[in-house]
Amino acid sequence: MYHFDEIVNRKNTHCVKWDTVPEDTLPMFVADMDFKVLPEIQEALEKKVKEGIYGYTIVSDDYLQSVVDWEERRHHVHIEKEWIVTTPGIVPALNAMVNTFTHEGDAIMIQDPVYFPFKGAVVNNQRRLVLHEVKMNEQGHYTFDFEALEKKIIEEQVKLFILCNPHNPIGRVWTREELKTLGNICKKHHVIVIADEIHADFIMKGHEHICFYDVDESFKDFSVVCTAPSKTFNLAGLAASNILIAHPEMRASFTAFKGRTGMGSVNAFGLISCEAAYRHGDQYVDELCAYIEENANCVRNFLQEHLPEVKMVPLEGTYLAWLDFGYLNMEDEALEAFFLNDAKVKMNSGITFGSQGHGFMRMNLATPRKNVEEGLRRIEKSIKER
Ligand SMILES: Cc1ncc(COP(=O)(O)O)c(C=O)c1O
Repeated sequence: MYHFDEIVNRKNTHCVKWDTVPEDTLPMFVADMDFKVLPEIQEALEKKVKEGIYGYTIVSDDYLQSVVDWEERRHHVHIEKEWIVTTPGIVPALNAMVNTFTHEGDAIMIQDPVYFPFKGAVVNNQRRLVLHEVKMNEQGHYTFDFEALEKKIIEEQVKLFILCNPHNPIGRVWTREELKTLGNICKKHHVIVIADEIHADFIMKGHEHICFYDVDESFKDFSVVCTAPSKTFNLAGLAASNILIAHPEMRASFTAFKGRTGMGSVNAFGLISCEAAYRHGDQYVDELCAYIEENANCVRNFLQEHLPEVKMVPLEGTYLAWLDFGYLNMEDEALEAFFLNDAKVKMNSGITFGSQGHGFMRMNLATPRKNVEEGLRRIEKSIKER
């Protein structure tokens, strides 16, 4: 039994979340968690520290096996050890893959809204940004518009699609059917797919994460799956991720590009923590997901009772609530400033994820329930006093 209710003081730890906001502000923005790490991770890191030597480190066979076993146990997908390419984070890998698999000026499609470094990986590398707007239907459910998507792929001659699966910030866990339709369209038009599955372990009851490689054997010929223990076990500061590339030539090109940039492997602490997490973390993740789900229920119930005009998009996966404050009719900048200055709650402004995020805020739920309740009370008070 893990204690996610425990309040850990993270102030003055050089932490982005708590040390970049004013003293009186509750941070509910950047995607990192306020929970203590899995004890086995801590022990493994302490053991390394006791060695007192931190030289160049190999990616061991045991490490690779722990990644294979995790994917098999948690996501029922079989991967081979040789598919795994380690990188110091998924964002650097995305940028490297854009360079590996496309040329300057090529069109790359991402969803709108989506995790904003996807856009950065496209435009900062002089590729052409093409947006697919994920639309909300009348039931408040986000879906792909596959007809519009295929039309745009043809018209814009899209070469690569970066998929967020599950989706940050809208909380969708894409179904097998949706992934199959998407994959088939991409296959038909020779579009490479990069599936960022960093949130794959945060799945709420009634939903199932489907790895893009598990949808159809043929999808392995034109896609890459990005995985990492960093969200699941709060290890972002250790910068470790595992990029799965089944297709040998795609893998060779990516590895060659990685070599040209000098981007090394993961540091020793990243490797050690990932292996410990994947060997010992099952129960932790099960309890963590249940806790996040309760936090999401807490937000939904509070809003229904106190602020019924604020709509919360159903959370199927991730630990990020997507809240629609559109009824306040505020400009996005003013909305963000209002929560920061009046409510003293820092959330991510929806607009930073794309135009479809207008009027939304993203709230991080990976924090003890007391903080969630406090954040909600502050938001209610400031809205009612407005
Ligand atoms: C979809 C997605 N990809 C990647 C990342 C960050 O990856 P990394 O820290 O490994 O670069 C995040 C962080 O929130 C994310 O939400």
